[in-house]
Amino acid sequence: MSSPSEFSTATSRLALPLRIGSLVIDPPVLQAPMAGFTNYAYRQIVRQLGGAGLQATEMISARGFLEIDARDHEFPDRLWGVKEEPRPLAVQIWDNDPETLAAVGAKLAREFRVSVVDINFGCPVKQVTQKAKSGSYLLQWPERVGRIVARVVGACHPTPVTAKIRLGSTRDAINAIDVAQAIEGAGGAAVTVHGRTAQDMFRGSADWQRISEIKPRLKRIPLIGNGDLASAEGVVEAFRRYAVDGVMIARAGLSKPWLFRQAKAALRGEIVPPDPTNAEQREMLLEHYRLVCERFGQDRGSLLMRKYACCYAQGRRGARTFRDNVSRVRTREEFLEVVQRDFPR
Ligand SMILES: Cc1cc2nc3c(=O)[nH]c(=O)nc-3n(C[C@H](O)[C@H](O)[C@H](O)COP(=O)(O)O)c2cc1C
Repeated sequence: MSSPSEFSTATSRLALPLRIGSLVIDPPVLQAPMAGFTNYAYRQIVRQLGGAGLQATEMISARGFLEIDARDHEFPDRLWGVKEEPRPLAVQIWDNDPETLAAVGAKLAREFRVSVVDINFGCPVKQVTQKAKSGSYLLQWPERVGRIVARVVGACHPTPVTAKIRLGSTRDAINAIDVAQAIEGAGGAAVTVHGRTAQDMFRGSADWQRISEIKPRLKRIPLIGNGDLASAEGVVEAFRRYAVDGVMIARAGLSKPWLFRQAKAALRGEIVPPDPTNAEQREMLLEHYRLVCERFGQDRGSLLMRKYACCYAQGRRGARTFRDNVSRVRTREEFLEVVQRDFPR
């Protein structure tokens, strides 16, 4: 049995800060991009709680960005907050055309001054794969992934360019080692691997063994593992058991935005802060609501908050009643009434 101080030394060695280009990510626990969720309001909540070494936006269509820019000299809604908010911040983009991605990457690096440009090679949604031949569709051709990364790296320099992938497109075509090597060879600054294939969608569990097999095949860049992490202990365990330089958390961070803070403490061998009380969680939800309404107004904000509110209540006693009722709110009054009355206590 190790003493607390031994535990502390052992765990702090487990999770050294990681480098993405010249950026130091400490702790090496990253907040994942999630379309429809990781907007400015969510990022602010996570930022206020602390513990995420790097935060990411939702994925942004590079083609859509250029169209909006050409037509209205505007930028996509999904870039809400990006210009002003604290750094470090990664913006994720998707497309299959190197020139389109390079043009948007350069804009993000120069005009938006983002810390990292991340390219999506993992999205399994039909709209992105079959229709737009992008996201995880591209995993079938590691050289093509390499060509895209090389072009974006050239356009964004010195801003680092990273990539997020899955293990492969199907169980029969697991090729994450080849893809990760192509990304490294093309000048990518880090690779994040979600331990499922595109075919898996979210079925089964993430295969962390497969993720860690990539590590010895990379020479220079950090490997960030992703999939199914839902607790501070889970994060410590991932570093202990698998050869990864960092971890990324997505879904669990929606119902527990304080998980990053807990993971950070656990990795340092410090006392893990308890979950906020229910009253504190309710306040957090209301602060989230305030930020969303500031941007979208009360009516649209109330509709948008339905899904976030359901996440906050997830897994708690009384969550079902709350979810049923909050999923129907249309106005500020209704939202506040349901939160006051039904948010789990
Ligand atoms: C609602 C939702 C939206 C997502 N959107 C994105 C996205 O925009 N870009 C991306 O790379 N991955 C996206 N993902 C995948 C997550 O980033 C992550 O890889 C996946 O959820 C596994 O991690 P987890 O088990 O911690 O949730 C999304 C996942 C969910 C559930």
